[in-house]
Amino acid sequence: MELNKIREDFNMLSTKLVYFDNAATTFKPQIVSNAICDYYLNETANIHRGDYDLSLSVSDKYEETRNKVAEFINSKVNEVVFTSGTTDSINRICFGFARKWLKSNDVILTTVADHASNLLPWFQLSKETGIGIEYIELSDEGAITIENFKKAMHGRVKIVAIAHITNVMGHIAPIKEIAAIAHDFGAIVVIDGAQSVPHIKQM
Ligand SMILES: Cc1ncc(COP(=O)(O)O)c(C=O)c1O
Repeated sequence: MELNKIREDFNMLSTKLVYFDNAATTFKPQIVSNAICDYYLNETANIHRGDYDLSLSVSDKYEETRNKVAEFINSKVNEVVFTSGTTDSINRICFGFARKWLKSNDVILTTVADHASNLLPWFQLSKETGIGIEYIELSDEGAITIENFKKAMHGRVKIVAIAHITNVMGHIAPIKEIAAIAHDFGAIVVIDGAQSVPHIKQM
């Protein structure tokens, strides 16, 4: 697509602005701003809790969005939960699920290249409960290899918490294979998809 055509979708790029921080916070295309504004200006109503036309209409749109997201990330519809972002999602898993599920002898496996959003909640949980945190050794290039993952994996690892694509080095972790191995050990896998969901097709 022609570059100027893409710029037209983003109001902030209508100036001479050059912006290189998209990996942290990206601009939203006009169509997204319009949809959000439209909700606030014309369609504000309770979702799934009102028995009147406006509420039913926005509830339908909410579910349409859930369907689109499920298709986009190749998940089942009832697996999609809307949160404010990756940090919020990981905190919910950590403090809503893992805090109750893990036992004091269990271990969380992650990497030193993970984002603070996928480290700080686990550090906090470890401080509160004494649950161990261990790290998969990275290759010289800073990537996770299956060989190193297998070396790090053992029976006490109950959660593998890693980024699909790291924001530090840009490496893509082989998560399908990692998940299969982790599941064989009875561990659950928490994937930080902040960088991968927008950038690569989820299989
Ligand atoms: C790999 C990674 N994880 C988590 C986050 C945090 O995402 P959010 O702003 O959605 O909480 C980012 C943001 O840059 C990120 O790059």
